[in-house]
Order: sequence, then structure tokens, then C-alpha cells
Amino acid sequence: MKSPLSFRKGIPFFCNKSESDFRKDVYEQYESMVVRQSALHLADQVWGKYPLQPILDFAADFYPDGSVQNILEIGSGVGRWIATLAQLYPHASCWGIDYSYQMLKRANEYWILGQDLFIDLSNRGFDSTHTLKGHRLTNLNLGLSKASNLPFSNNSQDLVLNSFLLDRLDEPMKGLMEMYRVLRPKGKLIVVTPLNFNHVTHWKTLYPANKIYDVLSQMGFSIEEWKEELIIQEPLDFRGNVVTWNCLAFVGVKYPAISN
Ligand SMILES: C[S@@+](CC[C@H](N)C(=O)[O-])C[C@H]1O[C@@H](n2cnc3c(N)ncnc32)[C@H](O)[C@@H]1O
Repeated sequence: MKSPLSFRKGIPFFCNKSESDFRKDVYEQYESMVVRQSALHLADQVWGKYPLQPILDFAADFYPDGSVQNILEIGSGVGRWIATLAQLYPHASCWGIDYSYQMLKRANEYWILGQDLFIDLSNRGFDSTHTLKGHRLTNLNLGLSKASNLPFSNNSQDLVLNSFLLDRLDEPMKGLMEMYRVLRPKGKLIVVTPLNFNHVTHWKTLYPANKIYDVLSQMGFSIEEWKEELIIQEPLDFRGNVVTWNCLAFVGVKYPAISN
């Protein structure tokens, strides 16, 4: 694994991020992004259930059995999925990589440093506030890097995950190639993405979804599961308004496997 270039409040930076990069990155915006992601991913009791549970349910059938050493989530945001894995595999080293320092800081405070989190959704019509008890996960690590240049060695990860990331990337092909590079042979990639691309070229090259299937196959993934309609409803407010996301969910296995 590469060494960090610097640290900020204990979070390793594996790439440089200039002040202008910070300003340009919408995911560094505290109110609109970190607060929204924290409410969505951490405050189950506000919504009555975890809104992204369908992702965890989809993925659970494909988690590896037995000894798992290294698990990586890319675009881990406030850390719910990778923290779930860290609890499920207490002997594995789990990494959440994200390009947003603010997301990583929130995840670090809540999942690793054990700081309680105060959730106030009065601006969404809720009249009660919630204090969420922080965790102290010792096998979870967080770091700042880009999906297109991961700080991990070739063939090092047993499981690589990401949700709501692929269609946000400026360079989704590079992201997929990095996921392939860091996975060990027979390692698994689990992706859930709405295919809500920002760039015309990405719509042309990666849509409809069978183009992604072809890209993955050419890279050397064998597709273990392919589901083109995984519906996620993101709750917005007390009244029950939601954003509906129609996601592609897939599981790829890295081949060729190296036989011993
Ligand atoms: C829409 S949020 C999704 C967060 C979480 N995975 C989820 O399912 O809700 C996208 C996340 O990906 C991160 N991200 C965006 N571009 C990235 C990149 N090039 N490399 C790593 N992370 C990136 C953002 O900072 C943000 O935390």
C-alpha cells in the first residue's frame, strides 16, 4: 500500500487536494452533502428503517465465506456500508476511500473515534432530534484518494464495493480498471449505481447497461449477478416525499484466477 502524502485531523491523504479542488467539490459542502448523507445513512430511527437496506440485502448473498483479509469501499461517504462490513468481518482490514475530506471526517468521528452524532431534521418537518451513539471500530480505516488512482497494491483486496459512485466519476472506466487491479484473483466486486451520468460521453459509452457488462467482461470480470432494476427510495422529509433511484446492481469476479 502507498504511504500517505499528508494527514488532516488523522485522515491520511493519498493524493493532493488543493484549496481550489476543495471549493469545486460539491461533496465537501457540509450542509447539503454531509448533513444529508448523515441523515440518510445513519439515522435509521428517523425514517423507521435504513433507506438503503436494499443495497445491503442485495450484497449480503455475495459476501465471501471464510477468511477475508482486505475489504475496500470506494466512495464510502459517511461510512455506513464499510462499517457494516468491518463489524461483520472483525478480523479483516477494512478501508473506506473517498475524495471528500468532509465525508471522511464525519465517518471517522462517528465510526472510529466514537463521537456521538446529533441529528436535527427540523428543516425537513421532523419535530424531534436524535443523538446517535458513536462507534469505536478498530479494523476500519479511512483515507482520501480518487477512485482512478487507488493507494492499494495489485491483487490485494478480497472484496471491493461501491454504491452511488460509478456514475459520479469523471473517469468511470479508470475507476473500474482500478477496482480490477486491486482485487485479488477470484476477488469480488459489488456495485450498485443508478446510471444517472453527468457526462454525455458516459451515457454514450456506458448506457444501456449491457455496455457495462461488455466492458467488465473485456476487463476480465466474470459476472456472477446482474440486476438492472434495484429500486432505492431516498426519503426527503416528514411528509414522505422521496427520490426514487433505479439502480443497476452487479457482482463481478476477477479472472483469470492464478492457480497454485
Ligand atoms: C453520491 S455519494 C455516495 C455515497 C455512498 N456510497 C452512498 O451510497 O450513498 C458519492 C460519494 O463518492 C465520493 N466520490 C466522488 N467522486 C469520487 C472519486 N473520484 N473518487 C473517490 N470518491 C469519490 C463523494 O465524495 C461521495 O462521498
